[in-house]
Amino acid sequence: MALRFPIGAAFTGRENPVPVKRPKEFACFSYDANHEYHLGDSSLKWYYPPDLGTSLSKGLDSFVKHDDTVDEHLDTLLRTIMSHEQATGEPIDAHIVTWRGMLTKIMAAPFDDSPFEMSVTRYRCQSFIEEHRAFKIQQEQQSTARQPRGRHGIPNSEMHRTNISAGYKFETLSTLPRPWGETSREYIENRDNEIVNNKEQYCSVVRTGFGNTIVCLGGEVDAIWDAKPPTPGDPINWVELKTSAEIHSHQDRVRFDRKLMKYWIQSFLLGVPQIIVGFRSESGVLRSVETLETRKIPHQVQSRELARWDGNVCIKFASLFLEWLRVSVPDEGVWRIKRGKGWNDIELSEVEEAGHGSIITDEFMNWRIKL
Ligand code: A3P
Ligand code: MG
Ligand code: MG
Repeated sequence: MALRFPIGAAFTGRENPVPVKRPKEFACFSYDANHEYHLGDSSLKWYYPPDLGTSLSKGLDSFVKHDDTVDEHLDTLLRTIMSHEQATGEPIDAHIVTWRGMLTKIMAAPFDDSPFEMSVTRYRCQSFIEEHRAFKIQQEQQSTARQPRGRHGIPNSEMHRTNISAGYKFETLSTLPRPWGETSREYIENRDNEIVNNKEQYCSVVRTGFGNTIVCLGGEVDAIWDAKPPTPGDPINWVELKTSAEIHSHQDRVRFDRKLMKYWIQSFLLGVPQIIVGFRSESGVLRSVETLETRKIPHQVQSRELARWDGNVCIKFASLFLEWLRVSVPDEGVWRIKRGKGWNDIELSEVEEAGHGSIITDEFMNWRIKL
């Protein structure tokens, strides 16, 4: 039997915003250049402005790309949580544990009708949510097969590939592996020659909350703004780096404002206060850089009268949905969270009657049993 949660529920009572907690990082981990896991901040990067006029497509052929068809489940997030719990001697208090990307999809659902599928399992009052990878891969394959030729006769899939690597190239051009004061001028000036590699990542693990639901999220953070390491306990001046096509027309503006919803949700969830957008020309040259303050984005979009989304509705939806999920998933088995294209509700149905599937690792389970 399937249960359903109506997305429209988020649009009632809009005048009463849902209280949210400020996300607080309590652990972090890094993937090195081979995508190997390390507890701690070894892959943290520092923002340093890029040179305008640089081509974002240079080095496309040597781009070292992580194979994202392998299902990594929640493994590294659980490993990091386990290390934290071993140090404190107690389990984290979150009701929901997941990657930031899953909550991005949930928060966007009222204004973005894209389909998604996730799997969820509950263990001792905590719900663990992961992406249903087979669905995501199938969707990506279908969208590649369907793509017609775009502008200049270049297949859209190729344009898409170029844009993806341009995003990572921008990160390489805008960051340093050490704070500015510890980096040579030579390194700064030669960032254009660095190999672009998206296997390397810094991931923040935060405790945050929506209404009554406490959430533990893991997600990649691109860089840190300050020139010095942060003072422990203080909010961290993270930056999210993004690239986008230059805005020339009203139509471009509308498209960009819609993109801003994803930028805002993504940064809001981990408590990233600033987003740096690199605007590229049609031929892929970095033309300008703009800094956006995350907390101001929803209001700025509303005031441009192009608003196609409302941040309070996104927050309200996540809050109502997570509360419903907490009471709807039983203590045993694996359940599917599904939204079909354009559906007005989210469906929850049983996939496996017993156990926790591949969502919770044996290592994590053994640790929790001992705790
Ligand atoms: P841009 O968003 O600047 O184009 P993130 O911005 O989340 O740090 O991701 C870095 C880059 O990865 C993005 O840069 C984009 O190129 C690529 N990327 C991230 N999520 C993606 C997705 N869902 N589909 C395609 N590319 C994605
Ligand atoms: Mg990133
Ligand atoms: Mg980024």
